[in-house]
Amino acid sequence: MEVKKIFLPESELPRQWYNIMADMPTPMEPPLHPGTGQPVGPDDLAPIFPMNLIEQEVSTQRWIDIPEPVLEKYLLWRPTPLYRAYSLERYLNTPAKIYFKNEGVSPPGSHKPNTAIAQAYYNKVAGTKRICTETGAGQWGSALAMCCCLFGLECKVFMVKISFNQKPYRKLMMQTWGANCVASPSTETEAGRKILAQDPDSPGSLGIAISEAVEAAVTGENSKYSLGSVLNHVMLHQTINGLETQKQMAIAGDYPDVVIGCAGGGSNFAGNCLPFVRDKIHGKEIDIIGVEPSSCPTMTQGPFAYDFGDTVQMTPLIPMHTLGHNFIPAPIHAGGLRYHGMAPIISQLILDNLITPVAVHQMETFEAGLTFAKTEGFISAPETNHAIAVAIREALKAKEEGKEKVILFNWSGHGLVDMGAYQAYFEGRLADYPLPAEDIRRALADIEPLPKPKQYRVGKI
Ligand SMILES: Cc1ncc(COP(=O)(O)O)c(C=O)c1O
Repeated sequence: MEVKKIFLPESELPRQWYNIMADMPTPMEPPLHPGTGQPVGPDDLAPIFPMNLIEQEVSTQRWIDIPEPVLEKYLLWRPTPLYRAYSLERYLNTPAKIYFKNEGVSPPGSHKPNTAIAQAYYNKVAGTKRICTETGAGQWGSALAMCCCLFGLECKVFMVKISFNQKPYRKLMMQTWGANCVASPSTETEAGRKILAQDPDSPGSLGIAISEAVEAAVTGENSKYSLGSVLNHVMLHQTINGLETQKQMAIAGDYPDVVIGCAGGGSNFAGNCLPFVRDKIHGKEIDIIGVEPSSCPTMTQGPFAYDFGDTVQMTPLIPMHTLGHNFIPAPIHAGGLRYHGMAPIISQLILDNLITPVAVHQMETFEAGLTFAKTEGFISAPETNHAIAVAIREALKAKEEGKEKVILFNWSGHGLVDMGAYQAYFEGRLADYPLPAEDIRRALADIEPLPKPKQYRVGKI
C-alpha cells in the first residue's frame, strides 16, 4: 500500500530553532527609530516586548535551543504529519509528486501557535501579566488566546472589523480560551477613535489593529505587545515546521524541487521554507515560491523601502516590501493575507533572488481549494488556498514539461471556521479584485518622505 502520511515520533521533535540570520548572504538593514532616523536599540523596543524576545530579534546565532516548557506544549500537536497528495496528483494527471505539511492539526487550526506558545512562555518568565495583539482572520488571535491560557496570562485581541463580522466563531474560540476580543477600529484606544472619526464605516486593516494593540500594551499595566508574523523572532519560532519537514522528506526518500507557501506577513512560508533556503544558499537547486493575493501585491508590486508596521505610525521603520502603511486592501476572504508589509527576512531573500514571489486572484484560490477538498478531503483556510493554487499550477507545468518534479507546499490551516467564505463562493458573491494602480500610488505617496534603505528598490506600479 502507498504510504500516505509520514509521521515523526515525538522523540524526533526538533530541539532547536533555525536562525537564517546566521546564513543570509546580505545582512539585513536595521529597523529605524522614526523620530531620530537612527537604528533602534533594545531599549527602544523594551516598552513593547520583553527583553528575552528582543534578544532573539537581533540574534545571529544559527541554532537557538527551544526551552523545555515550550517543547512540552509543542507536543500537544507536534510533530505534524507530512502528507503525499496522491489523489490530487491522479486528478491532475501529473508526473509530479505533491507533498503537503499539515499545520492545521494544532488546536486553533493553523501554524500560528508555533510562535504564540514561545512568545507566551518568554513573556511569562519576563513577568508580563497581559499580552495585547491584533488579528486578521482570527487564526493568530485564537492561537495566542490558547497559548496565553496555557501559561496563565491575560490576552487582549483587536480583530480587523471585516473579519470580526465574517468569522464570528473565531471570536468565540478566543473567548473559550479566556481572551477578550474586540472589533478594530474600536473606541477603546486613541488610534481606533481617530480612524473612526475619519471613517465611521472603516472595515479596519491589520495596520490599524496593530496600532490599537501597541497602544493598549504601552498604556496598560504590566502589558506587552505580541505580533504573529513579520518579525525575525516569529520567523525563527516557525522554523520548527521546516526542520520537521526536512526529516520527513528524508524518510520519504525525496527532496523538493519546489517549495511553496502563502505569505501574509510571511511566517508560515518562512517556517516551512527557511531550512530549504539554507540548503539553496549552500548550492541546492530549488524554487522557493511565496504566494500572495493579487489584491494585496506587497512582494510582487511594492517597493523595498522603510515603512511603519502600523497605520498610526507607532512602530519602528522596518526595511521591507510594502504597499504603504495606509493601504487598505479589498475585502478578500483571506484576511490573514491582507497586510501592507512583508517580513524583512523574506523581503531580503527576495532581493537576493533566493525566493520568488507570485500573486494569484481570489477566484483561482477558491477553485484550487475545492479541487483539494474533493481530492484530498481537507477544507483549507482561504489563505492556504493561495499555496494550493500555485502547487496546482506547478504540477500542471511539470505535466507540460514531462518532468517528475517533487512539489512541497505548506498547508497552513483548515477552513472549518471560514465556511462563510465558501458560502459566498457558492452563491456567486466572490470576485477578483484587480487593484487600481492609483490606490497603490496614493498609499505609497505616504512613505515617500521616509528614509530609504541602502538597497531601496522601486515597486512595479
Ligand atoms: C491559515 C493561515 N495561513 C496563512 C496566514 C498568513 O500569515 P503568515 O504569512 O504570517 O503565515 C494566516 C494569517 O492569519 C492564516 O491564518
